[in-house]
This record gives sequence, C-alpha cells and structure tokens, in this order.
Amino acid sequence: DDVVMRMKNVEMIELGRYRIRPWYFSPYPEELVHLPCIYICEFCLKYRKSRTCLERHLAKCNLRHPPGNEIYRKGPISVFEIDGRKNKVYAQNLCLLAKLFLDHKTLYYDTDPFLFYVMTDVDARGYHIVGYFSKEKWSNQDYNVACILTMPPYQRKGYGKLLIEFSYELSKFEGKTGSPEKPLSDLGLLSYRSYWAQTILDFLVHLKPTGDNEKPQITINEICELTSIKKEDVISTLQNLSLINYYKGQYIITINQETIAQHMRAMEKRKIRIDPKCLHWTPKD
Ligand code: COA
Ligand code: NA
Repeated sequence: DDVVMRMKNVEMIELGRYRIRPWYFSPYPEELVHLPCIYICEFCLKYRKSRTCLERHLAKCNLRHPPGNEIYRKGPISVFEIDGRKNKVYAQNLCLLAKLFLDHKTLYYDTDPFLFYVMTDVDARGYHIVGYFSKEKWSNQDYNVACILTMPPYQRKGYGKLLIEFSYELSKFEGKTGSPEKPLSDLGLLSYRSYWAQTILDFLVHLKPTGDNEKPQITINEICELTSIKKEDVISTLQNLSLINYYKGQYIITINQETIAQHMRAMEKRKIRIDPKCLHWTPKD
C-alpha cells in the first residue's frame, strides 16, 4: 500500500475570491474529491461540497482572520501564530490545503508539535491568507521552517521571500541560527538561495573598513550570528556566488563592482520587507 503513487485527486478548489487548480494529491475526504470543486472557507479553512453549503457555513462562521495571536502587523500585512495543539482543526485543515501544492512533504495529522505562521493581506472583507510556514516547537536539527507555501494566486510577488525573512527574524529573536527542513522543493530551493544571497551580500556591501588602509574584516561566524543563517548555508551561498578566494595563505571574500550593482538593483525590487519593530513576540521556552 505504501508504494502506491498517489495521483492528484482534487480537480479545483474555491478559496475566497480565487479558483485554484491543485498541483498534487491531498487526502480530502473521499466523498469530496470526485466533485468538480471543493469550496473552502478562506478564514477557518473548513471545506464544503457546494457553494450553497459554503454560504450556509459563512453565515455562521464569525472568523475574519486566522485563529491564534496576531504577532506582526505592518500596513496590510499581518502574521498570526497558531499553536497546532490549541487550534488542531484549523492546523489540520491548513495542512490539507497546503498538501495540494506540496509534493514531497508528509502530511502531519499530528499537528501538536508545530507552530504555524500564517501571513495575511487585509481589506474591508477580512484578513486573506497569502501563505504560511510551519515550525517545530522543538527541533533537534535547528530547523526554523518545516513547510513553507505561498498560495498560488500570490506567488512570484515576493511573499515567499517575505515569509523566509520572517522565519529568520524569529530565529534572531531566539538568538539562534536556523535552516529550512530538507528536502526542499525546486521552488523552495530557488527562493532560499535567492534570500541567502541577497541577505549575505547586503550585509557584506555595508561593512565598514576597520582602519585607514584596512579592508573590512569579517568571520563566517559573525555573518551567521547577524543573519541567523546557518553556517553551511552561508558557506554554500558564498561558494555559489564565487565570492570566496584563497589568497596569500588566507580565505578572503572579494566582491566586484558589477556584483554590487546587480545586488543593489535586486534589492530595489524587494518592495515589501519585514520590519522587526512591528514584531510583537516572545519565543516559547
Ligand atoms: N520559476 C522561477 N523562479 C521562481 C518561481 C518560478 N515558478 N517562483 C519563485 N521563483 C523565484 C523568484 O524569481 C524569486 O527569486 P528572485 O527574487 O531572485 O527573482 C524567488 O524564487 C522567490 O520568489 P517569491 O515571489 O518571493 O516566492 P513565492 O511567493 O512565489 O514563493 C514558494 C516561493 C517556494 C514558497 C512557492 O513557490 C510555493 O509555495 N511553492 C509550493 C510549495 C513549496 O514547494 N514549498 C517549499 C518546500 S517546503
Ligand atoms: Na521548507
């Protein structure tokens, strides 16, 4: 039974004002998957078999935002922290929804060990889910993200990187370095590589010289401490960018003007950023 390939089973979902075609299998109940569309409440994530049933649900459902605590707000963007034990039904429904777009992750029916960080975009109708990541309450491997997803209508607009930036802000508050759980999907790896490169370059190009004729000095450990990016990810990023050279008996990082100019252009495109001052959160002990 375990080796049977699970084929994509859900034809279409309706979520708020979006109709979305799923990418992968997700274990929604048998009686729903043969229907042309599953109707999902965009606030509590419960699923219904028809629009009429969803409308009946919406008349009773008072949620206009995810459950849990709003731990971040800047402009229209908020992040809610949801405990997988205290809000089990929501967390399970979020996992079911996310699995439609995640190929390789196992679905956790046991959501107790996880926290879920749901990013929303607010308007007069409510707080609309943009994406989320999950995080183990206690990770032995320093994982700071288990699963990460941007809802397809919001993809390729910078929200993935914003979620990643948020996950590292939490790690900074915890005073730890972190890394996403492996394996990453192709899209996940692309997004992380881009985030790591931009974050490390941004840090390096703003380094001040230590003395008059001195080049700025920095250790890999200092980069890790200041960005919360795990050491192996810092090293692989510097290697991918071909920034590390061996010269006169020591490793040095050299950045040419072209790389700096390219980096500046890329940073200008990152319009929305996480503002640590807007994070109201204390790590669980
Ligand atoms: N093709 C090529 N590049 C892509 C891409 C695509 N389909 N989607 C994202 N990228 C690149 C972007 O160009 C950007 O890099 P750049 O700024 O250097 O150009 C980077 O990835 C991040 O883009 P962004 O818009 O911030 O990401 P996103 O909101 O689209 O979210 C994921 C990225 C990975 C969260 C999203 O693709 C997703 O939810 N995928 C399905 C779930 C998944 O695979 N999760 C990761 C494994 S757990
Ligand atoms: Na991930």
